[in-house]
Amino acid sequence: MTEPLLIELSRQGKQAYSYPVSSLTVPEIQEHLKRKKPAALPELSELDVVRHFSRLSTKTFGVDYGVYPLGSCTMKYNPKINEQVAAIEAFNTIHPLQPEETVQGALELMYRLLETLSVVTGMSWGTLQPSAGAHGEYTGLKIIKAYHLAHGDEKRTKVIVPVSAHGTNPASAALNGFDIVEVATDNHGLVDMDALKILLDDSVAAIMLTNPNTLGLFEKDIRNIADAVHKAGGLLYYDGANLNAIMGMVRPKDMGFDVVHLNLHKTFSTPHGGGGPGAGPVMVTEGLVDYLPKPDITRKNGMYAFDWGSQRSIGKVSGFWGNFLVLVRAYAYVVQMGLEGLREASRHAVLNANYLLSLLQGLFDLPYGTRCMHEFVVSGQSLKDNHQITALDIAKMLLDRGYHPPTIYFPLIVHEAMMFEPTETESIDDLEAMADVLKELVASAKEDIQRAKDAPQKTIIGRVDEVSAAKFPILQWNANSIQ
Ligand SMILES: Cc1ncc(COP(=O)(O)O)c(C=O)c1O
Repeated sequence: MTEPLLIELSRQGKQAYSYPVSSLTVPEIQEHLKRKKPAALPELSELDVVRHFSRLSTKTFGVDYGVYPLGSCTMKYNPKINEQVAAIEAFNTIHPLQPEETVQGALELMYRLLETLSVVTGMSWGTLQPSAGAHGEYTGLKIIKAYHLAHGDEKRTKVIVPVSAHGTNPASAALNGFDIVEVATDNHGLVDMDALKILLDDSVAAIMLTNPNTLGLFEKDIRNIADAVHKAGGLLYYDGANLNAIMGMVRPKDMGFDVVHLNLHKTFSTPHGGGGPGAGPVMVTEGLVDYLPKPDITRKNGMYAFDWGSQRSIGKVSGFWGNFLVLVRAYAYVVQMGLEGLREASRHAVLNANYLLSLLQGLFDLPYGTRCMHEFVVSGQSLKDNHQITALDIAKMLLDRGYHPPTIYFPLIVHEAMMFEPTETESIDDLEAMADVLKELVASAKEDIQRAKDAPQKTIIGRVDEVSAAKFPILQWNANSIQ
């Protein structure tokens, strides 16, 4: 059953509070400032509101409910201690304009988080302002643009992205006014070096890559790519979405990257940003530090402070504290893990993905072999051709069995793609159980395809028209929507 909105549950006169009678004299509000009619706010009792949100909380799916192998999105478990640290009153009652001497601990936390991220990435310094990975991309490319302009390089208008890139890469480049040029992927799923070399000239501002790439494969030629791009005067942008595969093993700086964003929700166990209320810090090499958003966070004579001084800065990209409580959670995670713990997390993420891939051999087509990094992409093309079972059917059937589906139909270069990323936080039992369920589902769909087409049966909403749902979502309530 779908849950009505609070406004639909509203009954006139109900209320969830009672204010004490005030002895203060309230100044009369001037007539022209008064509403003409009361605001259309929902009126409910406290119990109505509690039940509404409790019911809603049972209609969702999260990593706390079951396996969530959404490739590229790294839906790892968020340890509950992170929440406890973020709930500390001294952290969550800060006013952004409070005098700096009263928030030294919070500033120190941000400073130390930047120091840690510098160690993990090999970069010189960074900003914690961006609110998501995509926002980090936007910020990083703005920095690259400012750098080229400051060097009189106005004609660098192109950003190269691989055909396997996440959609936010070209979108962020376009938002910064760049033209997007795609570079092909070779038969091994890696950047096609010959195709890249043809594209490199003095109009290239940057190339955006993630490594391992979105096929879960390590770009082994990354140093050659970096040398070629740098030689042509371009910069390398590292999409940190896949950093969970390599922490403590190899640093983006050593691969030759100049700018990095990190999706804290993917790698550093903070709640998923969903494109907004997360954090996507951007880290840069020495030569780009001056262009970082301001204010910077500095330490002088043992005191931490915001520094608004930078003349070359691209300015603010959001509130200057960023999403502070997300940063607190990430810091709690890195402190618990330590650098060795982060390295172990990456090792296990890669091990888990390879184990799951080995369990699924024979069930799906494996376009890029039997070894992967932290995620892998399989194809359901043979199942479609021979049994009419699509990747979408498999995703919907999984929902009925209490599993979140893998990412499907991405990257676009793999037909009937299913991208699995189990992360390090899944146990061997859970991986084996999911592989068994997948085998069962495929077998049952081969027997009776209608079972696949009718799934899901146990979710609140069954099959939706995916195109309309993506293109025309109804995200706003209006009085006419009540039947
Ligand atoms: C490869 C890649 N790049 C960028 C992003 C964008 O990150 P965010 O969701 O934090 O905006 C994602 C998101 O899933 C991704 O998988």
